[in-house]
Amino acid sequence: MSTIPTDSPQIRKKITSRSLRLKKERGEPISMLTAYDYPTALAIDQAEIDSILVGDSLGMVVLGYENTLPVTMEDMLHHCRAAARGATFALLVGDMPFMSYQADVADAVRNAGRFLQEAGMDAVKLEGGRERVDAIRAIVGAGIPVMGHLGLTPQSVNQFGGFRAQGQTTFAAKQLLEDAHLLQEAGCFSMVLESVPVRLAELVSQRLEIPTIGIGAGVGCDGQVLVTHDLLGLFDRFTPRFVKRYASLHEEMNKAFSAYKTEIIEKSFPAAEHTFTMKDDQWDALLQDIGGQS
Ligand code: KIV
Repeated sequence: MSTIPTDSPQIRKKITSRSLRLKKERGEPISMLTAYDYPTALAIDQAEIDSILVGDSLGMVVLGYENTLPVTMEDMLHHCRAAARGATFALLVGDMPFMSYQADVADAVRNAGRFLQEAGMDAVKLEGGRERVDAIRAIVGAGIPVMGHLGLTPQSVNQFGGFRAQGQTTFAAKQLLEDAHLLQEAGCFSMVLESVPVRLAELVSQRLEIPTIGIGAGVGCDGQVLVTHDLLGLFDRFTPRFVKRYASLHEEMNKAFSAYKTEIIEKSFPAAEHTFTMKDDQWDALLQDIGGQS
């Protein structure tokens, strides 16, 4: 018999890769956001977002690179550890950086393992289709849940000739659908579909048993992910078409920093409430001691 009173709030449980699958089966949309640090992961977790992706978008929105290619394993592990300290319930997915899984299957398994063993992640994500099947099978075989990523895979930006939508021709769409099936068969528990036509993403989502997480792929996906810095308006260099801004924090930051500078110049900051005092008797004793005057 349950000892929990019937009117008590539902006890929150840790989200796992299995929870995402069950959500798809129940037709419940999955929510995911990126985080690269402790306070952001904490806020996302408190908002009850299902999953946090420590994405290699880190390279662009935090480290200031032009694209995600310069991001290293050490960069990723450092930021994964910080995000993991902030999240209790969300499924934590660490993004495998460029060249950490492409060259060699054994390396891919070892690097994937570091995300779980050294950085507190629950799963890893990697980009690509049929050419990644061996690596995915081996990583899953080592007991590590893998999220796939098809469509606009930013680590292939040089091959695509820029950040362009994918799967827009019959041939490309058929390839993508085949790749999606191959990733599912290789053992992926879920996959990101980025910048692909809405009807293709919907078709893939209907055909697959594992959940799809869309970014620029429409509401037909089983879930949605956005880069948090885009959603918050923190990354001002450019805004992809598929981003909806829910806040303008870059502007807010500018305003706050300017106000701070003005108050320093005007000497209105720090005010009395931001300072510490010393009792008169202690002060007088000091002056006597050093032979000064107040
Ligand atoms: O790196 C990232 O943030 C991603 C998302 C865009 C899915 O891969």
